[in-house]
Amino acid sequence: MTGRTPQRTSRRRFLNNLILHFRPTTVPAATLPLTVSWGLGGMAAILVLTQMVTGSLLNFIYEPVPSLAYPSILIIHDDIVFGKLVRNLHHWGANLLVIVAGLHMLRVIFTAAFYAPRHVTWYLGLGLMALVLGANFSGYLLPYDQLAYWAVTICTGMLDYIPWLGPYLKALIMAGEEIGPAALKLFHTVHTTVVPALFLFLMTYHFWRIRKAGGLVVPKQPEDPPTGTPLRVPTVPNLIVREMAMTAVILAVLLVLAVFFDAPLGEPANPGLSPNPTKAPWYFAGLQELLLHFPPVLAVTVIPFLAGLLLLALPFASQPNEAASIWFGTRPDRIAAGAAAIGGVIVTLLWVFLNEYFRTEGWHASGIHRVFSGEIAFGLGLAGLAGFFFILRRRVDLSRHGAFQAVLMLLTSVFLTLTIIGAGFRGAGMRLTWPGG
Ligand code: HEM
Ligand code: HEM
Repeated sequence: MTGRTPQRTSRRRFLNNLILHFRPTTVPAATLPLTVSWGLGGMAAILVLTQMVTGSLLNFIYEPVPSLAYPSILIIHDDIVFGKLVRNLHHWGANLLVIVAGLHMLRVIFTAAFYAPRHVTWYLGLGLMALVLGANFSGYLLPYDQLAYWAVTICTGMLDYIPWLGPYLKALIMAGEEIGPAALKLFHTVHTTVVPALFLFLMTYHFWRIRKAGGLVVPKQPEDPPTGTPLRVPTVPNLIVREMAMTAVILAVLLVLAVFFDAPLGEPANPGLSPNPTKAPWYFAGLQELLLHFPPVLAVTVIPFLAGLLLLALPFASQPNEAASIWFGTRPDRIAAGAAAIGGVIVTLLWVFLNEYFRTEGWHASGIHRVFSGEIAFGLGLAGLAGFFFILRRRVDLSRHGAFQAVLMLLTSVFLTLTIIGAGFRGAGMRLTWPGG
């Protein structure tokens, strides 16, 4: 006697059937242990869906016209029951999405999950990352306050530095010469129709490709049968229970942020009064920081182009298959990656401080500053990366995969440090300062 009524059994069967329309019946047991990086892709998916729900609610009240946009946000704040909470959820959901999708991407990079047969999943992921940033950026203008107006102005201004294409791209994005009614209308339409449609398409395709590739990468387990097929366990309840827990965790984090911290809202946009400093949204702060150290074409065109090329080329880098899914396989791998992470922070800090010194002490005329900022610095940086890889391979005798992971770790660490400095430690005149200073 199990104590289950026929109704409960048939309800349970119905639920299982429904779940198994979307999920495989079994999953490799090795993908189930709850590691720190577990379920980041799933969390990103939950956040996208939450954004669609909260965004649709906001859209009932929001008016995409410069004279009405800001007042409509005030109505959402003050006159609509739970209006402020919904806006806060949308604001924090958007920020969390950048972080969670970014961490998911790092997990994919460091477990080498981008090689065939996962290369299409990887490219779809790159498309999703671009979409996450595009969704955030197109939403940024909508409150039409000073913060929104000038952050979008500074970002679209960066496009001017892209040779040939830049001015056309800028005119296309802004639907004209400057941010005004046409730009707001365009941003709103893209944000509320194009972005959700593309998300649904790319996400569905992403999930299907994960299935086609046979699920997630898994390290070979000692208990796996000799045929090489990993041990599999039923999806219900093993995976589903964990996914429900993951959903509860991310929604709880989002709710706590939305309840305790309000989304910022400055003064209404004033095209005649630019704040000092005028800052890009935090996820573009690394790019804005680069502009302080390099000539614009290098900062806004060459470096992002090379970074994009590196990401596109990753699936073509050959590697031993057994390295896939292993974070930092051996002790030397881990030491090298740790040293790269710490080294990246130290080198970037030193470089930023030296540049600040040369910038503010008027050394520009002397030419010495070019060693720290400009084409020479860029060349030295590239040579440093190649040298680091060479030392790890030839002197430390790391595997190609281990050395590659360490180089990627170094780049990640430099990028994150630049982003943190740009977003938190730049004040009036873009001088270095403490946060809030
Ligand atoms: C992944 C998808 C989405 C992301 C990342 C996103 C992001 C954002 C961001 C960053 C803002 C500015 C919020 C702020 O003031 O801090 C915003 C505002 C807004 N979004 Fe979205 N959004 C998404 C989807 C949607 C959808 C699907 C809709 C509607 C159908 C929508 C409607 C709105 C509206 C009306 C605003 C203006 C209200 C406000 O600023 O609070 N969003 N969005
Ligand atoms: C909104 C953004 C995204 C969503 C909703 C999403 C969703 C997912 C989900 C649910 C999984 C399976 C479980 C997991 O690993 O957590 C996954 C796996 C994967 N994702 Fe994403 N993802 C997103 C962005 C990205 C990005 C930015 C990349 C890389 C550029 C990427 C590349 C991959 C790859 C290669 C896999 C397969 C990993 C493996 O086989 O181990 N995804 N994604």
